Amino acid sequence: KGIDISSCVCFLLQAALFAIDLLFEKSYERKPIFISGTIVDRSGRTLSGQTGEAFVLSVSHMNPLCIGLNCALGATEMRPFIEAIGKSTTAFIICYPNAGLPNTFGGYDETPEVTAFNLKEFAMDGLVNIVGGCCGTTPGHIRAISEAVKHCQPRVPEADIYQDYMLLSGLEPFRIGPYTNFVNIGERCNVAGSRKFAKLIMAGNYEEALSIAKAQVEMGAQVLDINMDEGMLEGPAAMTRFCNLISSEPDIARVPLCIDSSNFSVIEAGLKCCQGKCIVNSISLKEGEEEFLHRAATVKRYGAAVVVMAFDEEGQATDTERKVEICTRAYKLLVGKVGFDPNDIIFDPNILTIGTGMEEHNDYAIYFIRATKLIKVMHLVSGGLSNLSFSFRGMEAIREAMHGAFLYHAIKDGMDMGIVNAGNLPVYDDIDKELLLLCENLIWNRDVDATEKLLAYAQGIEKYVVEDVEECQALVDRYTRPLHIIEGPLMNGMKVVGDLFGAGKMFLPQVIKSARVMKKAVGHLIPFMEKEREEMMALSGSTEETSPFRATILLATVKGDVHDIGKNIVGVVLGCNNF
Ligand SMILES: *[C@@H]1O[C@H](CO)[C@@H](O)[C@H](O)[C@H]1NC(C)=O
Ligand SMILES: *[C@@H]1O[C@H](CO)[C@@H](O)[C@H](O)[C@H]1NC(C)=O
Repeated sequence: KGIDISSCVCFLLQAALFAIDLLFEKSYERKPIFISGTIVDRSGRTLSGQTGEAFVLSVSHMNPLCIGLNCALGATEMRPFIEAIGKSTTAFIICYPNAGLPNTFGGYDETPEVTAFNLKEFAMDGLVNIVGGCCGTTPGHIRAISEAVKHCQPRVPEADIYQDYMLLSGLEPFRIGPYTNFVNIGERCNVAGSRKFAKLIMAGNYEEALSIAKAQVEMGAQVLDINMDEGMLEGPAAMTRFCNLISSEPDIARVPLCIDSSNFSVIEAGLKCCQGKCIVNSISLKEGEEEFLHRAATVKRYGAAVVVMAFDEEGQATDTERKVEICTRAYKLLVGKVGFDPNDIIFDPNILTIGTGMEEHNDYAIYFIRATKLIKVMHLVSGGLSNLSFSFRGMEAIREAMHGAFLYHAIKDGMDMGIVNAGNLPVYDDIDKELLLLCENLIWNRDVDATEKLLAYAQGIEKYVVEDVEECQALVDRYTRPLHIIEGPLMNGMKVVGDLFGAGKMFLPQVIKSARVMKKAVGHLIPFMEKEREEMMALSGSTEETSPFRATILLATVKGDVHDIGKNIVGVVLGCNNF
């Protein structure tokens, strides 16, 4: 009540700022905020390890009237850090150093004249707006400082700095601007996406899991995605524990984090313990506008950037038009209703899985790339890359080539960042030319058989189909008729495929591939079966007039549907049985 300036000393700066903002919104008229940090020694880091610039970025969402440094250092030692902070903010600069560095007894020897002289230089050079004294300064120091700077012009802050940049921070600043190359967000700290990481986390071995985070940063990840979405995990606790561990490892914590969850309470848990300015992945209109606005406001209060997925009340956008429509709607809500900084918005127009065997999925890559081009005009675009090649699980060489080829085109059309396996992205020009063509045919949907051809490239198993069938035919005691080969080993093989598919251990491309092998084997056997039928007809004395077939069965599925595969197999077996 009636307070003009209130001061709060704290270590958990983000949490304190969150509380202050909430207080302003709920109970009090907004007041200007001054934020002063402490650079603990000449390394130029705050107590939590942030550089001055990273510190500025982490608090910029509060629009402080004034930002600066105090304590720990004397004016001379503080100067480079005050300069750096001034270059990263549009706020006024406050600076109140100690009276020099402490002597061996913890006392301060710098005289009022020296402190005043140093701070006057700051003022003359246009570095500061407010000056004062911290530890070791006396009323005499303050009087001398006041006298010294009385006639100096205050600093005029820049009107805008990094205006069109997305500004993020870990312990160090990370700025994404118009000339920034594609940004790699490391994907491996994801319990749903990395078996190795999941195993360690489930076993409670967080320290070892940390090495996966470290390896990614070493391999060039500029942001780290953290995902703890696994039914058996207590999400918020796991997120908190891992993020806190990361902040104790300067080699990892230097990059910003991307807090990834489909559960907002897990996201909030991550935001609460993030020191820097991170990314939230993701929010969407899936649960309606009200929930979207509420979540966006919360993210904004924590000062994080946000990934918006092209998902609304009706579901996930697959085609270009809906992707653009949803992102446009989300953008208007974020900027117009929540007051979100446009520079803090990233769109994820959904990289969906191709090569699934479903015709309606064939254009998914094209839709993403086209949508990217259109959304790019509005804002930054990201996507989770591994989803693209999900149906080729277990075939890493194919997956990597697909990713490399896809990124090459998506980046050209404006994709700014992606959740990727940073160390495993091939260079476009290094991808084997034959493989590249197959990948691009699949991505651009230029060949209906692209998936099969990719699989053939990957495995080359078809070569032996005919040889293997001939080997069976040679076993005349075991397979007296060609039909026995189909009903025996071939059908048994398909049964294994069916079981694996049913158990989610095999995917459509492999099923298609197996069906193709089956077809090829049967194709080899058909002439033998026809010969057999002719012989049998001759034996029984029947003629062409009496139909050799037992009955006619009409089989149909929707063209391109998964069931097409099964239908064709049934057709083959029936045909072999004289239908
Ligand atoms: C989100 O996580 C919280 C905390 O673990 C849990 O209580 C809640 O049921 C989860 N919500 C959903 C939709 O899974
Ligand atoms: C991955 O693709 C599947 C199907 O194509 C989709 O349902 C899922 O939402 C996608 N995941 C992401 C993160 O886009």
